[in-house]
Amino acid sequence: MENLLDEIEEILLMGPGPSCVPEPVYDALQKKTLGHMDPYFLKIMDEIKVFLQKVMNTKNKLTIPVSGTGSAGMEASFVNLVERDDPVLICINGVFGKRMLDVASRLGAEVDVIEFPWGTPVQPDVVEKKIKQRHYKIVAIVHAETSTGVRNPVDEIGVILKGRDTIYLVDTVTSLGGIEVRMDDWGIDALYSGTQKCLSCPPGLAPLSFSLKAIEALHKRKTKVPNWYLDLNMIIQYWEGEKRVYHHTAPINMLYALYQALYLILEEGLDDVYQRHLENHLKLVGGLQELGLKMKVDKPYRLPMLNAVVCPEVVDEALIRKRLRDEHKIEIGGGLGSLAGKIWRVGLMGHTARPHNVKRILDALKGILQ
Ligand SMILES: Cc1ncc(COP(=O)(O)O)c(C=O)c1O
Repeated sequence: MENLLDEIEEILLMGPGPSCVPEPVYDALQKKTLGHMDPYFLKIMDEIKVFLQKVMNTKNKLTIPVSGTGSAGMEASFVNLVERDDPVLICINGVFGKRMLDVASRLGAEVDVIEFPWGTPVQPDVVEKKIKQRHYKIVAIVHAETSTGVRNPVDEIGVILKGRDTIYLVDTVTSLGGIEVRMDDWGIDALYSGTQKCLSCPPGLAPLSFSLKAIEALHKRKTKVPNWYLDLNMIIQYWEGEKRVYHHTAPINMLYALYQALYLILEEGLDDVYQRHLENHLKLVGGLQELGLKMKVDKPYRLPMLNAVVCPEVVDEALIRKRLRDEHKIEIGGGLGSLAGKIWRVGLMGHTARPHNVKRILDALKGILQ
């Protein structure tokens, strides 16, 4: 019988995620599966919480990986904090801000949005003006907008929200592990991420952290969390305390992989990891400019791990991506939404952010474009 898995090729993952997975993380996935209540597994879980606290720069006790991809982190954040008619402000400058709007609206929140042109950052003064006009229970923003390659000023908005009872909710799916994320210093109350971007672990878990303020809001709910699987009141009883209570069977081997991925990042050192992302980004941008290509985002707002490259009008954007995949075994992403067909998204996330990968894609693009 034919086994499709035998035919899987190694593709250099230079798109918007997933990113390349280091061998020790693949090795971790193959370790023997333990029971989800096994005392040794509980030890691994406890260490994962400590590793996540370090990467997020937080002391929050409620810092755990939620089962599911980044969107499960988004859903968990909103579903635990939002009740019907709650006023929520969402800053949108790309696809993932829009997804937040969809998630919050489905929960019956009264959502206001402030929108900015795709490819430009959220402007803190506009947020400040808006929060003076209305009291919001939650202000939400995406740190690294993967659809456009823009870095939003999460730290500056944190300063504006300081001293208010508003919950500050931030998506760090693409930023965590690639650029600095300082949850406590920036006043973030609810933060979620995903494993398959700069953490360089396969997709499947959503690291999440709630501050005491966010937990208080959860405890003050008048209604039950409307989603059983993501109800943090119950999940936390499995992740904390002397006596653990079963909620759902943890994805054991995925958690081994996350443990190993975080271990590698912390072993390399967070500052060195950020520096590696930045250096490879600069090398890539320099090489792309030599090929006559332009970046979509202005320099100060560019993300090192997600490079939005303007596709020249004379070029068939999808064909170039197809040729990269077929002839060079390299995956890059196309544009989403209003940027579909107009940009390429070249990822330098986590383990992908290495000089030999930058050289490989530049050589491949040079060959194809010439
Ligand atoms: C900024 C951002 N938020 C949320 C998500 C959703 O994550 P997932 O696709 O892992 O569910 C993504 C995925 O690309 C993302 O880039």
